[in-house]
Amino acid sequence: MNLPKSVTIVEVGPRDGLQNEAEFVPADQKIELIERLSETGLRRIEITSFVHPKAIPQLQDSEEVVKRVRSKPGVLYSTLVPNEKGLERALAAGVKEIGLFVSASETHNQKNVRMSISDSLKGFRKIAEKALAQRIRMRGYVVTAFGCPYEGRIAPEKVEWMINEYKALGVHEIALGDTTGMSNPIMVSRWVERIQSLLDETGLALHFHDTRGTALANVLAALQQGVTVFDGAIGGLGGCPYAPGASGNVATEDLVNMLEEMGIETGVDLDKLIACAKYAREIIKKDLPGHLIRAGRVQWEKR
Ligand code: COA
Ligand code: ZN
Repeated sequence: MNLPKSVTIVEVGPRDGLQNEAEFVPADQKIELIERLSETGLRRIEITSFVHPKAIPQLQDSEEVVKRVRSKPGVLYSTLVPNEKGLERALAAGVKEIGLFVSASETHNQKNVRMSISDSLKGFRKIAEKALAQRIRMRGYVVTAFGCPYEGRIAPEKVEWMINEYKALGVHEIALGDTTGMSNPIMVSRWVERIQSLLDETGLALHFHDTRGTALANVLAALQQGVTVFDGAIGGLGGCPYAPGASGNVATEDLVNMLEEMGIETGVDLDKLIACAKYAREIIKKDLPGHLIRAGRVQWEKR
């Protein structure tokens, strides 16, 4: 099997995971979770969103979280930004990487950010100009890239078009999101093969939700196509408030376990990560879908 030697994990739990939690988690606990995650060896963490507080009430404390979190050298902290107002807030808080996001589905984009895809992209041009002038890195998300709960199938040409738009904006990486877990390993393999030639220097990350239990299988398919950046949410936290039936991302600790057991380096300490998943479960006061929280890591020594 042709597999990469190492993989970068992007932890999105504090943003993608928490954004769907109805019960408010106080900033102190969000910050504690982010600081603990920073000690696991993770190099990239998406910590919050500068979106409208009414759209995502859980993340209304984004200024406080960004300003108060003790950043660890070598860890890149990122936040989502939907529009120019979001960028202003992110810059004022001192963010170094932003995540832009647009849906591959017109209906989902309308519901998510109350704009057409074309208006989202128009807004991004202004954001990109300002962000790049301040040397802020940009990640470009294509949400519902593999299928939409409202529109069903997404034409790969549409995703290719968005990749080109993002490339023109100067993003360092494109993240394709399977927001409601509609893809499967064959689909992932075909899509990655198809888009790889478009990417040139731009990185590709895959963002799988485990809504239908296919996330880790999808990761394996993508690894075989040479993809080396994957998102995960601690404990499998999350969902999307504008996508009915959505559940969390693949649990970061499950992802790290699979990769490390396969001999692929992640640089992440699995025991510390499992401890973080338990802390996440404590602060949201309910069970989480991650497997390793229950099973623990594989023990190969004879007992
Ligand atoms: N942060 C805070 N306030 C914002 C804002 C932002 N990023 N963007 C707009 N606003 C404010 C405006 O200043 C305006 O305030 P005013 O009425 O006091 O003048 C008001 O919101 C309406 O502005 P408008 O541009 O019309 O925004 P909207 O109501 O159409 O909402 C979004 C658009 C994008 C801000 C909102 O839909 C949103 O935040 N969505 C996020 C969804 C999300 O995070 N989904 C999960 C991730 S995939
Ligand atoms: Zn997501």
